[in-house]
Amino acid sequence: MIGGMNGFVKMVDVHTHILPAIDDGAADEKEACQMLKALASQRVTTVCLTPHYYHHKESITAFLTRRAEAFQKIEEYASQCELTIFLACEAHLTEDLLNEPDLSMLCINKTRFLLLEAPRDWLFSAKEQFLLERLISRFGILPILAHVERYPPLLKSDSLLSNLLEMGCRMQINLSSLSEGSFLIRRRLIRCLSEDTIHFVGTDCHNMTRRAPEYTRHIDLIEKKLGRKFVEQLQINAKRMLNPSAMKVQL
Ligand SMILES: [Fe+2]
Repeated sequence: MIGGMNGFVKMVDVHTHILPAIDDGAADEKEACQMLKALASQRVTTVCLTPHYYHHKESITAFLTRRAEAFQKIEEYASQCELTIFLACEAHLTEDLLNEPDLSMLCINKTRFLLLEAPRDWLFSAKEQFLLERLISRFGILPILAHVERYPPLLKSDSLLSNLLEMGCRMQINLSSLSEGSFLIRRRLIRCLSEDTIHFVGTDCHNMTRRAPEYTRHIDLIEKKLGRKFVEQLQINAKRMLNPSAMKVQL
């Protein structure tokens, strides 16, 4: 059920840096709990915890250990806030990541979806796209490209976007870009949402100050432009993505 008690749509935040003291997100447990509370007060009921993972800095095993420790610190509070939280990460894509035998533990909630951050200077050249292809074919992973609005080539080219979609990539945007981006970016993102070439939204919140968890203000903009049914479907798609038993996700 997506509608809440008062007819509110229950929201999903697929991209957050709430886990305490694990990356450049929440500094400590106190701030992490404030962030959870802030999301819970904005109709969000499901949160993916996606700390940065840099393969060149740390082994997957060491990262998973730190992630589990951080998770334990907020698990109970999330439950008090009636939030369902899922473990995941935002993996930085570099060639060395593909040398690992298995990347499944980095995926979202034991699904095949992996939130992936491309290097900032990526132009999505043929060589760079080949890395994504290898990730998909070798590991059977479905990459969700994080905050695609940060990559000018993806904003400019419909054909590049459709190449990546055909390859099996899915796209996520940061909600704040819908109000803070330039007019052209905002218009482009709304169009991509309406054409189903962007599939997921998240706050990408990092703290309670400069990058705070702001969900409602931005999702209401989507509702204003594309309607309530669209926002409901967006949440349904996110919930489907989070279900590990869904072998094939129709988006
Ligand atoms: Fe992020």
